[in-house]
Amino acid sequence: MGRPLYEDPAVAAVTGETLRPGGFMLTDRSVGLCALPPGARVADIGCGNGATVRRLRERFGLAAVGFDASLSMLRKAPPGGLVVQGRAEALPVVSGSMAAVFCECVLSLVPSPAEALRECRRVLAPEGFLILADLYQRFPAEAGMPGEHGASCAAGARSRPDMERCVRDKGFALMRWEDHTRLLKELAARIVFAHGSLDRFWTHVGLNGPPGDCCGRPGYGLMICRKAGPER
Ligand SMILES: C[S@@+](CC[C@H](N)C(=O)[O-])C[C@H]1O[C@@H](n2cnc3c(N)ncnc32)[C@H](O)[C@@H]1O
Repeated sequence: MGRPLYEDPAVAAVTGETLRPGGFMLTDRSVGLCALPPGARVADIGCGNGATVRRLRERFGLAAVGFDASLSMLRKAPPGGLVVQGRAEALPVVSGSMAAVFCECVLSLVPSPAEALRECRRVLAPEGFLILADLYQRFPAEAGMPGEHGASCAAGARSRPDMERCVRDKGFALMRWEDHTRLLKELAARIVFAHGSLDRFWTHVGLNGPPGDCCGRPGYGLMICRKAGPER
């Protein structure tokens, strides 16, 4: 696999410091929805350059730490940014120690989402929150062949029922689902304004077309889940 799409500087040029639709909007909203108090320990899985970890610490006073598989992404974090290397499937975190886990635009990139969810559950305290924001297949019947895994969030996007089943199977209660496809449309519009057209953007990043053809027309969703049931 070549460089993943999110590592191309052309993506950060349109998304800003975060690499997802909506920037901090859904992060901030989730902190409020989960009523996370200052000082609560939270983890940002697939934290990229650590911008969200900073936001959670500085704006909300949360004891946030970030984990990312990619050293090249972590090198973009400022020194002392409280981000460390760690894969979603094997987090270097004590069991039951986190009040919440954020995972924004990451699960669709992970080779084994089930493993990552099992690990999120392990590190969460009882009734801890799992906050998932990701692309999803809005019209699963349109979806084509799976894309090259890990190349982009669209390539690994799944349908909403599939995502809901996956979190339930892994021991979470789904508290809330929200559609935020508008944020994805806004990002697409920003790309068009920056490059003239989506096709020109794909050419600019060295692709023949969208890596997410496999997903049909994508949407963007927020899921808030709670760790449920006894320890496994
Ligand atoms: C689209 S970027 C999103 C980064 C950040 N969450 C944000 O929204 O700005 C996806 C991130 O997930 C990381 N990632 C991909 N697979 C991972 C895995 N298995 N474990 C941990 N991080 C992973 C990538 O290195 C990348 O930084």
